[in-house]
Order: sequence, then structure tokens, then C-alpha cells
Amino acid sequence: MRVVSGIKPTGNLHLGNYLGAVKQWVTLQDDVAAQGGESMFFIADLHAPTEWIAPAELSAHTIEVAATMIAAGIDPAKSILFNQARVPAHSEMAWLLNTVARVGWLNRMTQFKDKAGKNREGASVGLYDYPVLMAADVLLYNATHVPVGEDQKQHLELARDIATKFNGDYGVDLFTLPAPLISKAAPRIMSLRDASAKMSKSNPSEQSVVKLIDSDDTIADKFRKAKTDPDVLPATVEELGDRAEARNLLTIYAALADSDVPTVLGEFGGKGFGAFKPALADLAVAKLGPIRDEMVRLLDDRGAVTAVLQAGAEKARVLAAPVLKQTQDAMGL
Ligand code: ADP
Ligand code: NA
Repeated sequence: MRVVSGIKPTGNLHLGNYLGAVKQWVTLQDDVAAQGGESMFFIADLHAPTEWIAPAELSAHTIEVAATMIAAGIDPAKSILFNQARVPAHSEMAWLLNTVARVGWLNRMTQFKDKAGKNREGASVGLYDYPVLMAADVLLYNATHVPVGEDQKQHLELARDIATKFNGDYGVDLFTLPAPLISKAAPRIMSLRDASAKMSKSNPSEQSVVKLIDSDDTIADKFRKAKTDPDVLPATVEELGDRAEARNLLTIYAALADSDVPTVLGEFGGKGFGAFKPALADLAVAKLGPIRDEMVRLLDDRGAVTAVLQAGAEKARVLAAPVLKQTQDAMGL
């Protein structure tokens, strides 16, 4: 079993990235190790500039995201933690796979349509080709399982299509078909000001996104001011109906407490947000505060974080080299 997943260093990580991705990876890292498998987590710095990002921001965020992942429990002794740019085989493999991927396949990718919007002609070729680099990221290591959010499922299917076509075209049994790991426990966290929008690095409103770098006071303040309706919480999930803000805050509480929404309603059903929001603020500070403190401590010595990434990249290069060589051999290169 080999698990591979990545995260873009386009900004400071937020609560959605933590509960929806990094926290799941920490659990996975231990489960996979217990089964004798291997986990690889990378900072997707090559994916980041497909939309403009200032160089100083990119390099700073790469280190910050690495520090956040370590602070949250990704252990470089158990998992291979690295940044893509330090493993040239990602770029090389992406080019080789570009020759196999079909234009028609990429044209069907909904994320490109969403991100490019009306400015399709002005989007970078990299943004269009993003899923092929993503295929390279996982095929390069013969990943068996790839933890992905719903939004990335289509890209992983493309990686499987590319692997299948390569194996077929060249008559080899080279690439492993990676299976998606969509954790049922991985919640989708919404904005604290608009529960119809995903909590996201690209959300412009500061109040709507809890960042892992936020101070205790800021975390508590954001939860206390989170948008809610005036009603009390019901006793059961069924009675929640379309109360999206309530549902989102309950989901966050349950995820932070390693519990579930019915249990949380068992405790808070019949109470108003005047009681629930302070409890949520306290829980968030208790869970996120230590991660932030550790992140700040790690960022005191950015050189040490870079050294961790370098050591991870060295291990990744060793694993990538034979697969890249076999791919070149298969193609007559
Ligand atoms: P963002 O949308 O903030 O730019 P990314 O696209 O870099 O975040 O996502 C990194 C990881 O975090 C992915 O696995 C993604 O599914 C997860 N993720 C991002 N936002 C959320 C959210 N609001 N709720 C749950 N998971 C999320
Ligand atoms: Na995203």
C-alpha cells in the first residue's frame, strides 16, 4: 500500500484544509504504517503558479505549509514529506504523460472550467494541463491509494485513464491504477459568513476563514461572530433541515471533537447559539492553539524545515528514478 497526496502552497492553511485533508492524512499515516505501507505527502509548489503567485509568497508559503503539516502531526519519520519542485521527475513524467493524455479528456475537466471561468483564452496552459501533472505525481510512485476531496475525484479518474492508455499503447504493465480514498469522515467545511461557499484560501473575507496561524483570540472571535440563524438547535439531525450555518458549525464541532453531529446535538439540542458558539470557540482554541504554537516554533528556524523537505525529496527521488527510467525505456527514449 502506498498513499500519495499533496496540497498547494497558495496561502496559509485553514480549518477546511485541516479537517478535510491534513487531519485525515495524520490518521492515514499511522494506519498505513501499521499495515507495512508507505505514505508520501507533498507540497504542490509546481501546481501553485498555474495561477499567478508572487515568488516570495510561493517560497514562504511552501515552508509555512510544511511547518503546518508537521505541527498537525505529519511525522517525517513515518511519512515522506517533500516539495514537488525538488523532485524533477514530476516535471519529466508530466511531459511523458502529456503525450498519452488526450485533449478531449482535458476538455472535460470541470475544475479547469470553474477556475478559468470566462477567461479560457487567457488561462495558463499549466492550469489546463494541471491534471496531467497530478497524474504524474501519483503514477511516479505507483501510488495504490490517493486521498482526494470530491473536487479532485475527476482528476484521479483521468490519472487512471492515462495509466491504462500508457500500459496499453506500449504493451507494458508499468503503471499501478491508483484508487481514490474518499474518507467518509472528511467533512466539507463552509465559510463562516456564507454557508453556501466552501471555506477556501481564495475567500476574500477574513472573518469567514479560520486560519491555522490565527491567534486564540482571533479563532474565538471568528466563531463567536459566525453567521447563524436565531433558532435553538434541534435534538436530531433530521430536524436541522436546510439550516446550513447550523449544520456547518455542528460539523466543525463534531470533527474537532472526533465525534459526530448526532452526538453533538445530544449535548446541545434545545440550546441556542448563545451557548453553542462559545463552546465551539473554546473547543477550537483547545484543538488548534497547540498546532499553531508548534507551527510558530518550527517557523523560528525555517532552515530546519527546509532541511526536512530536502531529506524527504531525497527519498522521493530514489523512489521516482526507476519508474521514470522504465517509462523512458518503454517509450524508446
Ligand atoms: P483551497 O481550496 O483552500 O485552495 P486546496 O485546493 O489547496 O485548498 O485543497 C487542499 C486540500 O484541502 C484538498 O484535499 C481539499 O479537498 C481540502 N479542502 C480545501 N478546502 C476544504 C474545505 N473547505 N473543506 C474540506 N476540505 C477542504
Ligand atoms: Na481547491
